[in-house]
This record gives sequence, C-alpha cells and structure tokens, in this order.
Amino acid sequence: MISRFRQIAVLSLLALQSASLLANEGTPIKIGEIASLTGKEAAFGQSSHKGTLLAIEELNAADGVLGRQLKLITEDNQTKAGESATAARKLISRDKVVALLGEVASSRSLEMAPIAQSSKIPMVSPASTNPKVTAVGAYVFRVCFIDPFQGTVMAKFAREDLGLRRVAVLTSVSSAYSVGLSKFFKERFLSDGGEIAIEQKYSEGDKDFRSQLTAIKATGVGGIFIPGYYSEAALIAKQARELGITAALFGGDGWEAPQLLQIGGAALEGCYYSTHYSPEDTSPAVQNFVKNYKDRFNDEVPDAMAALGYDSALVLADAIKRAGSTQPDAVREALAATRNFMGVTGNTTIDADRNAAKPAVVVAIKYGKLNFFKSVAP
Ligand code: PHE
Repeated sequence: MISRFRQIAVLSLLALQSASLLANEGTPIKIGEIASLTGKEAAFGQSSHKGTLLAIEELNAADGVLGRQLKLITEDNQTKAGESATAARKLISRDKVVALLGEVASSRSLEMAPIAQSSKIPMVSPASTNPKVTAVGAYVFRVCFIDPFQGTVMAKFAREDLGLRRVAVLTSVSSAYSVGLSKFFKERFLSDGGEIAIEQKYSEGDKDFRSQLTAIKATGVGGIFIPGYYSEAALIAKQARELGITAALFGGDGWEAPQLLQIGGAALEGCYYSTHYSPEDTSPAVQNFVKNYKDRFNDEVPDAMAALGYDSALVLADAIKRAGSTQPDAVREALAATRNFMGVTGNTTIDADRNAAKPAVVVAIKYGKLNFFKSVAP
C-alpha cells in the first residue's frame, strides 16, 4: 500500500516537474544583481557589473544554462546605505529572480544577506571579504577569500617584506570591511611581535585626515596600515606626503580601483595593497579573460572586482547546471557542493562556512603603475 502510494506520489511529482520544465522552456532564467553603479564607490559596481555581464553573455552565446538563456536584472544602489536591502526585496518579489549576485562592499552585502536568507533565495557575493557576510545563513555564499586571511597576509608582509616593527592603523569606523580587516591585521601583527603604536579613525566620505595623520606622525612609526576604500585611501596618501610623512603606506583590496592612482597620483609611489587577482597572471584562463574583457569594454584592463564578478556568475551558472533545476533550494545545495571550479581568480571550492579560500596577490605601486609583487597561498 505504502509503496503504491509512494509510486503514485513519485510519478505525479515527476509529471509536475516536467510540466514546470516545459512551462519554463524558452523563458529566460532571471538572475538579480546589486551593484554600486553610481555614487562614491561606483568603481566597484562598474567593474563587478562588467565582469558579471561578460560571463552572462558568454554563457548565453554557448546556449545558456539548462537550455535556457540567462537574464541579468541589475539594480544600482548608488553606494547608498539602505538601498541594497530595498533592491534585494524588489528583485526577489517583483522580478522573481532565482538567485542574487552582489555586493562588493561588505556593509552592503550585509544589508542584502538577511533578505536573501529569509526569502530562501541563494546569494553569491563576488568580493565581500568580511566574515559576517556568509555567517548570515545557509543561503549566503561568496567566491573570494575572507579578511582573517587578508589581514594575516598584510601583517606578515609588513613584518617580513617591509621589515616593520612599529606601525599605525587608520580605520574607517563606518565600514564593516575596514573595521574587520583592521582587527585581523592587528591580531596577527601583534602576535608576530610587532607593535601598534597608535590607532586612528575616520568615516566613509571624510575628506580631511590631517589631524589623524599629525598624531600618527608624532609617533615616528615606520608604516601606516590603511584598511579602507580607494577614495579615502588616495586622499590619505596625498595628505600624508604633504605633511612630510615618509612612512610606508599599505592597505587591502579596498584600494583596488582605477581612481586610486587618478586621485592619489605620485603620493602612492612605493605603496602596497593586497587583492584577489592580477591581470599580469600569464595563465591562459586569465589572459583569455583579459582579452575578451578588453574587446568587450573599450580596451579596459579588468581589475579584481571585474574578475570576481565574472567568477561569481560562472559559479552560480555551474550550480544551476549541476542542480538540473532553477529551484532555489536545489541551487543552494549545488552551490554548497561547489568543488574545484576553475575561474579567473583561481579555484573556487565552497567550504562549510560558504567561503572560498583563494590566494591573495600583493600589488606594488611603482612608476605610477600597479605591479604584481607576489602571490600568497591560503
Ligand atoms: N573586500 C571589500 C569589502 O568586503 C570589497 C572589495 C573587493 C573591494 C575587491 C575591492 C576589491 O568591502
């Protein structure tokens, strides 16, 4: 009796599934994307969006996923607090997307994540490195390393490559990313026998850092760690040099943007930062991506956000393929089971915390250009 029931149940489930597959055939698979296309961190959103778009276009040119085309629906949060939550609600309830891609900045991913989680819609952040992002819940993933690793890389770099023993740390207290990276850097630098001579603070959007820098100058430290975003980091470098500070300046992936050099200019000479990828990587996967991106976007060289945006879309598409369905729970399961997916930022293996361990690249700014300095394995 029971097995008979089960047979009927299974058969009707199969019938329902194929009916819904048939009903969906020919209709595109909708994927939501949230990015800062305008506003203070437009460089982040512009790059991650272009990388994501290139991946979607390439997938569609190769017949899409599960025989269907992908439709990317992008919302611009204008770099404003609060907008990413609104955008996530819109994409989920109005557009009925099967998954969300975004954000780059950790504070904005932290706005989207609770909505993805409570709606049970998988979310893949391309580039948010704060550990709290994926800790929101089982539907939240990322395809990049996290800041306990990045902080360690830069603390070791400061001690071993720059030979620093006493440093200052200048943190943006209104950015979850900056607060986290600052903490992880300090922990490692101290445990390696270094000294944090002074800590100073600022907030996103600040333009004058002279009082913090004057206090730092008085300590005579050999280096200043600046775990912030490019707009402020570039101004900090300029004002530091104007004040006659000769200490080494270095930061994390938040420095990565073409605007960094445009704003900071010569003040950035000899500075370093960590990031996720280098366009100088000679592997065929990276060189192929660089070429296709340049062909598609006006000869621009893709940066780390572009590369991670590209990989986030590919990892999601791969999960949908393996799930054999666009049903959000099945896609979530498949995302969690991602192992050794080769993209342009290395190998993506999703761990038990839904993070991806990947190498970090240290960039040296020399002769007004970004130069590959070294790669550090996880
Ligand atoms: N990791 C940064 C954050 O979490 C965002 C970022 C990623 C910035 C990659 C630049 C490059 O906020």
